[in-house]
Amino acid sequence: MSLQDLLTVVPAGSDEADLVRSLDFGRLPRHVAVIMDGNGRWAQLRHKRRVEGHRAGIDAVRDTVETSARIGLEVLTLYAFSIENWKRPQSEVSTLMGLLKRYLRAELGTLLENDIRFQVLGRVHELPPDVQQELGRAQERTKGNGGLRFNIALNYGGRAEITDAVRSLFQELLQDGRDPSGIDEQALAAHLYTAGQPDPDLLIRTSGELRISNFLLWQIAYAEIWVTDVLWPDFRRRHLLQAIGDYQKRERRYGGITTTV
Ligand code: IPE
Ligand code: IPE
Ligand code: MG
Repeated sequence: MSLQDLLTVVPAGSDEADLVRSLDFGRLPRHVAVIMDGNGRWAQLRHKRRVEGHRAGIDAVRDTVETSARIGLEVLTLYAFSIENWKRPQSEVSTLMGLLKRYLRAELGTLLENDIRFQVLGRVHELPPDVQQELGRAQERTKGNGGLRFNIALNYGGRAEITDAVRSLFQELLQDGRDPSGIDEQALAAHLYTAGQPDPDLLIRTSGELRISNFLLWQIAYAEIWVTDVLWPDFRRRHLLQAIGDYQKRERRYGGITTTV
């Protein structure tokens, strides 16, 4: 996937085509993470129920996954449901779970065709059994794929993830009779849900909120943050391209001096 691949789906001569051409495909972010926010507000603006916003958000998910694969990103992580989201009305939660199940069923073929590897980040065992089954199937069927790694953060909390990682690391040390004084950042990172994946370079949040909401707390240490007022159901390819274009203009320093992306 590449510039040419993207240009096949972008209307010739459009602003989007200009955006694509302005990108430096040699300096793409390896990992893009997205806080998909604003579904409720999108619905409210249209005098619809909140769940209609979630339903409409599926199109944005499809578009973002497809574009990420075409661009040639290594990893895309979408934040779909936080541990704190269980506080919402039960009817909203069950609609969200149902939508997820349907999405996975409908999209599995596309994921396979496009060599996309699907993975869930979060406390999967606490999800309803039918959802777990669907997630397990999609993970199993796509595990050999070598293209885009597509993570969905589900029943995910950044603090919960770090807590789980510490617990699992300690269990390993105890089993092996090793001394905890040897623990370093790499050892802890190897027990996170994202073990083996690069940290996000670019973190996108839709609908204007300037907060992290417990997302990938460990991994975003040096991510570049891009916030848009666009509500998630309206988020499309051009917004992702814009975010990547802006990212490429940033100067990443990692605490040092003058390093560009
Ligand atoms: C994001 O949209 C989707 C989830 C958190 C599941 P919201 O449902 O949070 O929408 P707003 O923020 O209320 O507009
Ligand atoms: C963050 O959005 C979680 C997801 C996008 C899944 P929220 O809408 O739950 O976050 P807050 O409550 O505005 O911080
Ligand atoms: Mg929200």
